[in-house]
Amino acid sequence: MKFPCRLDKFVSNIGELPRTKVKSLIKKGNVTVNGLVCKRNELQIAATDEIKINDKILKYLGKRYFMLHKPQGYVCANQDDLHPTVFDLLDEPNLKDFHIAGRLDIDTTGLVLITNDGDWSHQITSPKKQKFKTYLVETKEIITEEALQKLRDGVALHNEKQLTRPAQAEALDKYALRLSICEGKYHQVKRMLAAVDNHVVELHREKVGGIALDSDLSAGQYRPLTEHEISIINAM
Ligand code: URA
Repeated sequence: MKFPCRLDKFVSNIGELPRTKVKSLIKKGNVTVNGLVCKRNELQIAATDEIKINDKILKYLGKRYFMLHKPQGYVCANQDDLHPTVFDLLDEPNLKDFHIAGRLDIDTTGLVLITNDGDWSHQITSPKKQKFKTYLVETKEIITEEALQKLRDGVALHNEKQLTRPAQAEALDKYALRLSICEGKYHQVKRMLAAVDNHVVELHREKVGGIALDSDLSAGQYRPLTEHEISIINAM
């Protein structure tokens, strides 16, 4: 949420009420701003103003940041008609303003960062910022040294003009590798493995720009980021 902000928008977002209901509450004089009844929907309010509906304070909780261990079967979207979304796993107030800083496919597991701070997530998702994302990749075919080298140097993805940017790739066993990439093209890891005649069987994100998935979180669990984790995104 950006301040200054219209009164009706603030009450609707923080009170989680439809805008029509809010307008009617404001009209009836049920909303106060710093102790005074306000009937102007368009009044611009600041983050420090105290807004109440019928004496109940609506508190703006500020910028918030979470890491989630995404399980398979959940989509990285705010809403979906067919599947549960990662937001169904978060028990937090005012999630309407939140977004995902770098999506994962429905069948990919691992680290998902969720925030209401657009400037912060831009540091992660902007192609210009080149933050590394690290994946554990299980493959159908044996991973050859030649394929690893191609992944490091850059491969041609189907329908893309430019080769992928230099990446880090290390084999973990015959059918598993750790791959770090600094781009986020659609299905990038799956397409990179297809470009070296292999196929991704399982994909798991371990790390985004210096933030590692907390090993205490099992699939489906989440926690707020620490101050340190929030700050390393801006520092890197
Ligand atoms: N690359 C993919 O192919 N899928 C993901 O979910 C993330 C990166």
